[in-house]
Amino acid sequence: MCGIIGYVGEKDCVSILLNGLKRLEYRGYDSSGIAVLNKEDNRNEISMVKRVGNLKKLEKALSKKEMKGSLGIGHTRWATHGKPHRLNAHPHLDCKNEILLVHNGIIENWGPLKNELISRGHKFISETDTEVLVHLVEDYYNGDLVKAVRKALSKVEGSYAIVVMSKKSPNQLVGARQDSPLVVGLGNGENYLASDIPAVLEHTNKFLIIEQGEIANITKDKVEIYDRNEKLVNKSPFETNWDISSAEKEGYEDFMLKEIMEQSIAVRETYRSHVYKYKISLDESNLPIDIIKNIKKIFIVACGTSLHAGYVVKGVVERFARIPVDVEIASEFRYKDPIIPNPSLVIAISQSGETIDTIAAIREAKRKNAWILTISNVMESSAVRESDGAVYTFAGPEIGVAASKTHTAQIMICYLLSLYLAKVRGEITSAETAYYLNILKEVPSKIKSVLDNHSKIKELANIYYKFPDFIFIGRKYGFPAVMEGALKLKEISYIHAEAYPAGEMKHGPIALVGENCPVVAIADDSSVYNKILGNISEVKARNAPVVALTTIGNEKIKNLVDHVIEVPKIPEEFSAIINVVPLQLFAYEIAKKLGCNVDQPRNLAKTVTVE
Ligand code: G6P
Repeated sequence: MCGIIGYVGEKDCVSILLNGLKRLEYRGYDSSGIAVLNKEDNRNEISMVKRVGNLKKLEKALSKKEMKGSLGIGHTRWATHGKPHRLNAHPHLDCKNEILLVHNGIIENWGPLKNELISRGHKFISETDTEVLVHLVEDYYNGDLVKAVRKALSKVEGSYAIVVMSKKSPNQLVGARQDSPLVVGLGNGENYLASDIPAVLEHTNKFLIIEQGEIANITKDKVEIYDRNEKLVNKSPFETNWDISSAEKEGYEDFMLKEIMEQSIAVRETYRSHVYKYKISLDESNLPIDIIKNIKKIFIVACGTSLHAGYVVKGVVERFARIPVDVEIASEFRYKDPIIPNPSLVIAISQSGETIDTIAAIREAKRKNAWILTISNVMESSAVRESDGAVYTFAGPEIGVAASKTHTAQIMICYLLSLYLAKVRGEITSAETAYYLNILKEVPSKIKSVLDNHSKIKELANIYYKFPDFIFIGRKYGFPAVMEGALKLKEISYIHAEAYPAGEMKHGPIALVGENCPVVAIADDSSVYNKILGNISEVKARNAPVVALTTIGNEKIKNLVDHVIEVPKIPEEFSAIINVVPLQLFAYEIAKKLGCNVDQPRNLAKTVTVE
């Protein structure tokens, strides 16, 4: 996830772009850049500054440079393809240094396009997927920037919001959007393009939303928007009454809710950046094929929510790749003198890549000659740097302390990794891989349908927020999701909650159950459905109020339990990524009802860098 901005008008726009980027910094902050075109005395001069690191670095660099211009674009980056580096920072330039482009999204077919463009003589300087776009626009530019952008975009697959400017069209910006947000801010004798409203809210409260597939052609006093069929679209501007702070949350009450709601996008971007034409590409993992073929054992090391993603890895890797997996709490791992057979793969999962316990576990595994793969949301994080390879989630920055969208993105990586290992080891065929990938491709829309059910979950929370204790039960693939559901409830609402494999209840925890201790059970369509029904009957017989998470269309279960949360149907192996979402919302709504600060729960930190 990145933030983009563009300005066309008469003012000197460097500070406008910089301030806009500051409002977009929550979307990414590993590098940034601004380019402006100085038209004074017809000199048509481009100046550009890029820096690695947060916007303070860019601000400092700009303060030392004479830079003027009334047409400009800016970008704050969350690295996806290519590590945070000045060459990978946006804006990107064409070969003639005349066209400049900023991009948010992922171009899936950048590899073949890059090869094609190189064979036509284009010179690339970055490792990004984005750079192909600007070279394509260069190829098609024939005096009409809108046409060139349209043609370039017709060649790409993936997601994008872009803003393009050219030395040859000094009074114009072109923007376009597919699956990544883009708005037009309407000013007086000036206009803006930006990833979201807050970026330019201090200059205007009048906006137009660019819809899927639309292209915007913008000058200082004209905005034209074209649809996919090149037809002009007539849009009426709307006025927003947001203030700046609420706008950063895009209208949501807190970052956590915003991030929960962003999950279908986070999961889709994570899928898209690793899958192209039914092939899973984990290139950045550097995982040697001979290691994959000979691995004796996999160890997962992680903490908190990432640890729960580890339990998902165990389920699917053992199912598909048939490699035994141990899930290890990172803070315990290095003290137990772990027995690591050779060759073993240690997978560290850490959204931040900075959790000290996970890093210490990586060091212990390294000392014992394991091959280390880190799954992280942050490129160049410490865990990534200390590992042999990495695979990234593309969830964008997460601000709420309790993880949500990074978790579902981690789960998507777990699924892709398990299929990849299975394929390389010959446990599944290409056709089977394609079959499973088709299922995974549908996950974002299934998550969206769960999120659309938010109001029903809120109603349930209004009933259940009064209880002091909860037990969450699940079996098989349902267990990681209930562990995460219980953790979410604990961390943000301070209600005591425990997760148990449902069959284990009878060995102790059932003693706690009663009318004051509700049970949340995963009872979706699965091979253990009848078993879990039995477990639900056991707790019902002891008067526990029961909320069952069940597959849409299961009417029968409604006679047994007090309330249901319906989830869309998906094969059981891939159910965790769907089932965890309503449990996040359930915890969130209970916490809100209790007046808790969900973004910054007491005693917790987003990244724990102490032991
Ligand atoms: C902290 C956060 C959790 C997170 C855990 C692991 O405890 O509050 O939300 O799951 O750290 O973080 P990591 O960045 O390693 O995934």
